[in-house]
Amino acid sequence: MNKRIIVGNWKMNPASFKDAEKLFVDIAKSILYIKKTEVVICPPFLYLDRLKKISRKIFFGAQDASYEDSGAFTGEISPLMLFNAGVKYVILGHSERRVLGENNVLVNKKIKACLRAGLRPIVCVGEDTRDENHGYFNLVKVQLEETLAGISRNLISKIVVAYEPIWAISSTVSRHDATSAESLEMAIFIRKILSDKFGPEAKKIRIIYGGSVNEKDALEFLKNGGVDGLLPGRASLDAKKFAEIIKIAESL
Ligand code: PGA
Repeated sequence: MNKRIIVGNWKMNPASFKDAEKLFVDIAKSILYIKKTEVVICPPFLYLDRLKKISRKIFFGAQDASYEDSGAFTGEISPLMLFNAGVKYVILGHSERRVLGENNVLVNKKIKACLRAGLRPIVCVGEDTRDENHGYFNLVKVQLEETLAGISRNLISKIVVAYEPIWAISSTVSRHDATSAESLEMAIFIRKILSDKFGPEAKKIRIIYGGSVNEKDALEFLKNGGVDGLLPGRASLDAKKFAEIIKIAESL
């Protein structure tokens, strides 16, 4: 079995470093005991460098990266800068970035740039609605095929795939909860696509679930959702809730 991973996506929060530090310290203090679970926090870029001194138990992730290594790209942060700042993971292709115009081709370029720099991409896939004809399976298939095009088999174990149905994410107006059965079904489907594409090596790719995961349903998703971990957003901004999710993962 792959090592379980819990990734907190802070998105564009909190507004000050002071609050970010407090949240981080509160989380760090409550998970000193963990042994089995890989804990990753993805704060805004600005806080990464300063937070990294606080805990050895927590790995860092960024929420995006440029597809270029360096150069005249105003406003961008390169994978190499992130690597040099001690970052291990990068969330790529999040639905909140796709609405800003990011597509599979761009995500593919970012994945390649991050792998080149020694980072581990957390590649987000997921449909915005579920239609009666199950066309959403095809959408996820295309997302995987296009974002992972041209990635060599020997790097595939560095990749985490996050299934995040947009209709379940907390920022979606009129959202509703996904069930562990829906997660399981999609996780099996994703696994099949990955093994068709990459062969037995694909087993090393971790698949995680995200979409309003909280301390109440984390156990259900981890036990019955067919996934190796979780990607909570809102719940990761509450130290108690996030620590509880980690405790659940650690207990399994
Ligand atoms: P959420 O965010 O848990 O607040 O729905 C998850 C995500 O968008 O990564």
